[in-house]
Amino acid sequence: MRLAGAELLESREILPGQWLQTFHAPALVAGARAGQFVHVRTGDYSGMVLRRPFSINTADAGTGVLSIHFRSIGRGTEWFTRLRPGERIDMLGPLGRPFEVDPRSRHLLLVAGGLGMAGVRFLADEAIRDGRQVTLLFGAARAAEVYPSTLLPDEVEYVVATDDGSVGHRGFVTELVPTYEGWADQSFACGPQPMLAALARLAEGRRERLGVAKLGRKKGGGKVVRQGSAAGRRRSFLQVSMEQNMGCAVGACLGCVVMGASGTPQRVCREGPVFGSEEIAWDSGW
Ligand SMILES: Cc1cc2nc3c(=O)[nH]c(=O)nc-3n(C[C@H](O)[C@H](O)[C@H](O)COP(=O)(O)OP(=O)(O)OC[C@H]3O[C@@H](n4cnc5c(N)ncnc54)[C@H](O)[C@@H]3O)c2cc1C
Ligand code: FES
Repeated sequence: MRLAGAELLESREILPGQWLQTFHAPALVAGARAGQFVHVRTGDYSGMVLRRPFSINTADAGTGVLSIHFRSIGRGTEWFTRLRPGERIDMLGPLGRPFEVDPRSRHLLLVAGGLGMAGVRFLADEAIRDGRQVTLLFGAARAAEVYPSTLLPDEVEYVVATDDGSVGHRGFVTELVPTYEGWADQSFACGPQPMLAALARLAEGRRERLGVAKLGRKKGGGKVVRQGSAAGRRRSFLQVSMEQNMGCAVGACLGCVVMGASGTPQRVCREGPVFGSEEIAWDSGW
């Protein structure tokens, strides 16, 4: 984790109220992995003392450029939309635990709801770079909120669902999952909590429905894998990136907890934001 200045290179509104900003921040990009986030300070100190967390949308170690994709919903995000190229802000990162891809997984199913695209977008780049096949299921309310396919790598199979049927499948993105779950070796999701909970329920019944073998049985099958460890996440069919209001983002304030399946509160900023779906007590209403 580093605290570094980041220079804005480009800022554009890619969808109504949704912005894509690229920054030159080589110190933060070095070692950044998909699923991690940055904690960004607004330059306006008049009452906005807290930093704002954003998923690392893309990061390019070669150029030192990272991007964030956000919706302008309040004072902090509105302030970011007024930044101009050449201006510098300070960022803390990369923070949190990343997605873990099993080395044997060839077919990755990514599922994003709305702004959840920012949580899985970087994983698409990493997976394509590593020679994996990626299908990305994306859900939005209507056509006007559909993430542009031009911003995705050509190799990604992109399947869209809209609530009103104005583009793609009519209905929730979760309804598309049964079509792909037999193909996928692992799945990774980010989006609204009800969507993640629905995906977790689907993942729970998947093995019985498909009769598939559990990843990791062959090699080191006898080893005990600790929940919450990188190896534990790697064995999960579904990994989810959670969002929760944050204060410190470094594990100190306990402002970001969700309830773990073991009954132990989990800090999204430290134990997460990526969790194996079976690590979360989805019905506990934290
Ligand atoms: C790990 C993590 C990654 C995130 N990544 C992204 C991202 O890539 N793109 C993006 O648009 N947003 C992301 N968020 C949410 C983002 O941090 C908030 O939208 C932002 O902090 C709001 O700041 P604001 O000052 O504009 O709004 P505020 O005025 O602080 O709040 C406006 C509204 O947003 C809600 N809100 C505030 N913070 C959060 C939060 N952390 N999560 C959910 N709702 C919140 C408030 O309850 C309120 O209703 C992420 C959050 C986390 C925890
Ligand atoms: S935000 Fe402070 S502990 Fe997570």
